[in-house]
Amino acid sequence: MKPDVIFESSECHSLANRHTDTTLRNKIMKLLEGKVAIVTGAARGIGKAIALKLASEGANIAFTDLVIDENGINTQNEIEALGVKAKGYASNAALYDDTHTVVDQIVKDFGRVDILVNNAGITKDGLMMRMTELQWDAVINVNLKSAFNFIHAVTPVMMKQKSGSIINMSSVVGVSGNAGQANYSASKAGMIGLAKSVAKEFGSRGIRANAIAPGFIETEMTHALTDEQRAKWSELIPLRRGGSPEEVAKVTLFLASDLSSYVSGQVINVCGGMNT
Ligand SMILES: NC(=O)c1ccc[n+]([C@@H]2O[C@H](COP(=O)([O-])OP(=O)(O)OC[C@H]3O[C@@H](n4cnc5c(N)ncnc54)[C@H](O)[C@@H]3O)[C@@H](O)[C@H]2O)c1
Repeated sequence: MKPDVIFESSECHSLANRHTDTTLRNKIMKLLEGKVAIVTGAARGIGKAIALKLASEGANIAFTDLVIDENGINTQNEIEALGVKAKGYASNAALYDDTHTVVDQIVKDFGRVDILVNNAGITKDGLMMRMTELQWDAVINVNLKSAFNFIHAVTPVMMKQKSGSIINMSSVVGVSGNAGQANYSASKAGMIGLAKSVAKEFGSRGIRANAIAPGFIETEMTHALTDEQRAKWSELIPLRRGGSPEEVAKVTLFLASDLSSYVSGQVINVCGGMNT
């Protein structure tokens, strides 16, 4: 039988082998090749950094945000430039029906869901005595109920696949509390309890669930703080600096991938040593 490719010389042969080796090595080294990840609230900030990091390891990315405007389209283009499939969906994560509709659409578009990152979040800070019911409800619904909505919608898909990794974006203040953030810290503590509970419920189905508790991360959310508040935070951080979205994304990659195949029901602080 005639070979499909005839190499003219041994040099040509070894060049071809070298090319195949590199292609293979690139494929083998990608941690999330062929996986599908949903990242909520990912048009910007930490969510965007996570989407890009997971994509850089081969995952196809479905991300959501309240609107997919120019910012969201740019994010989608940046993810696609890494050679994976990417699509941004406008959806309010706080709404149960919206979330189930968007997850159905994502499954139609992408075929499966391997990773869920519950990242969408807001703050509406205020001292307890002055906190309004609206401030309380908004933060609990966007931060905590959204995680329930997405976990509820994706787990039937993950159960059928007998695998999945769920990651809740909590906060150090969900672990330790914070004056002036009763609503936010309660929502973030709730995300830890939620991750630990579903880790116990779904572990036997091959689904892992964990939480990340970032400290002070430089994003638009923290740019709203005054210089005085920022200086106070810095003093509390042994590494004496805020973290970057990329530094949270690296830990998310660990929890999303098989690097953490025996890690479930845990909280990882990403806070420069602030919470020990
Ligand atoms: N920045 C920090 O220092 C820090 C620290 C600890 C935890 N976190 C958490 O990390 C996550 C990301 O924070 P960030 O700093 O990137 O914030 P960010 O404000 O820059 O980004 C949050 C994103 O969520 C989106 N969003 C808000 N409400 C939504 C909703 N109802 N449905 C869908 N999307 C919605 C926003 O439009 C935005 O794109 C949040 O959950 C936040 O609480 C941040």
